[in-house]
Amino acid sequence: GLPARVRIHEVGARDGLQNEKATVPTRTKAEFIHRLAAAGLTTIEATSFVHPKWVPQLADAEQLFPLVRDLGDLSGTALPVLVPNEKGLDRALALGATRIAVFASATESFAKANLNRTVDESLAMFEPVVARARTHGAHVRGYLSMCFGDPWEGPVPVPQVVRVCRALLDMGCDELSLGDTIGVATPGHVSALLTALNDQHVPTSALGVHFHDTYGQALSNTLAALQHGVTTVDASAGGLGGCPFAKSATGNLATEDLVWMLTGLGIDTGVDLGLLTATSVWMAEQLGRPSPSRTVRALSHK
Ligand code: HMG
Ligand code: MG
Repeated sequence: GLPARVRIHEVGARDGLQNEKATVPTRTKAEFIHRLAAAGLTTIEATSFVHPKWVPQLADAEQLFPLVRDLGDLSGTALPVLVPNEKGLDRALALGATRIAVFASATESFAKANLNRTVDESLAMFEPVVARARTHGAHVRGYLSMCFGDPWEGPVPVPQVVRVCRALLDMGCDELSLGDTIGVATPGHVSALLTALNDQHVPTSALGVHFHDTYGQALSNTLAALQHGVTTVDASAGGLGGCPFAKSATGNLATEDLVWMLTGLGIDTGVDLGLLTATSVWMAEQLGRPSPSRTVRALSHK
C-alpha cells in the first residue's frame, strides 16, 4: 500500500539555485525560502557551506541566514544546509544551523569531480563532520549521488551503491537521500536498489529519494519508491536545478508535479499548491525564464 503522508524535502533554494549562472540576490533567496514555508513546506534546504569558488551562487550563505531570520520567524521550519567538511561545519554551526547534510558519491568519477576526493577519501572527510554535528545535536542527512547512472561510468551496480549507503549509516547519518543526479533511473532500477537495501536491513524509514527529471521519469520513480514504503521525497519548486559538476544533470522533480500526483493519490503533504505555484511563477520571473514544471505551466495558464 501507499503511505498516508509524505514529507517533502524541498531543495529549490539549494539544488535549484546552485546551477544558476547569474547571481541571484541574497534577498531574493531569503524571500524564496519564506514563500516556500508559507506554501506549507516544512523542510527547506537553504544553502551550502562549500568552497565559494566551487559554487559561487551559494557564496552568500553567511549573509543569507541572518536575512532569512530578519524576514520573519521560521522556527517551525527545518532549514538543512550542505556541508562537505569540517570547515563547512564550523561555518554552519556558527550561524546556528541544526540540520546538516554531507554528500557522498557512489562512483569514483563523481567523487573526484564534486569533492576532489576518492569515494573512500570523501567518506573519511565526512566522518568527523558527522561525529561533531551529532555532538552538537544536529540532524544529519547523508546524500548519495549517482545511485543509478553516472555520466562518465554509465549504469552503477547496485552493490556499489549499497556499500556507500552502509558506510554513511554506520558513521551516524540519521537519514539517507538516494540521488539520481542525472535523472536516468527508471522504476525497475529504483525497485531493485530499494529491495537490495531492504535485504541489507537498511530501514526504509531512514531513506529518502532524490530524483532529477532529465528523462521525465522522476514521478514514476517516486511512485515506485512509495510502493516500497519510502515517505521522504526530495523535490524542487518549479523544477529548478542541476549540478554544475555532473554533465547532463537537469532540474529536480518539480515539487508541484509531486504534489499534484500525491494529492490525486489521497496522500497528504501539507502543501498549498496554489501558493507554491505562485512562488515558482514569481521565481521564474526573477530568473528570467519559465518554469520547466508541467504542473506550474498548467496551473498558471488557466
Ligand atoms: P578542495 O580544493 O579539495 O579543498 O575542495 P581543500 O580541502 O584542499 O581546501 C582548499 C581551500 O579551500 C582551503 O583554503 C580551505 O580552507 C578552503 P586555503 O587554505 O587554500 O586558503 N575550503 C573551504 N572554504 C570555505 N568553505 C568550505 C571549505 N572547504 C575548504 N567548506 C571541497 C574540496 C569539498 C571543499 C570542494 O570540492 C567543494 O566545495 N565541493 C562542493 C561541491 C558542491 O557543492 N557540489 C554540489 C552539491 S552536491 C549535489 O548537487 C548532488 C545532490 O543534489 C544529490 C544528487 O543530485 O545526487 C546533493
Ligand atoms: Mg541533486
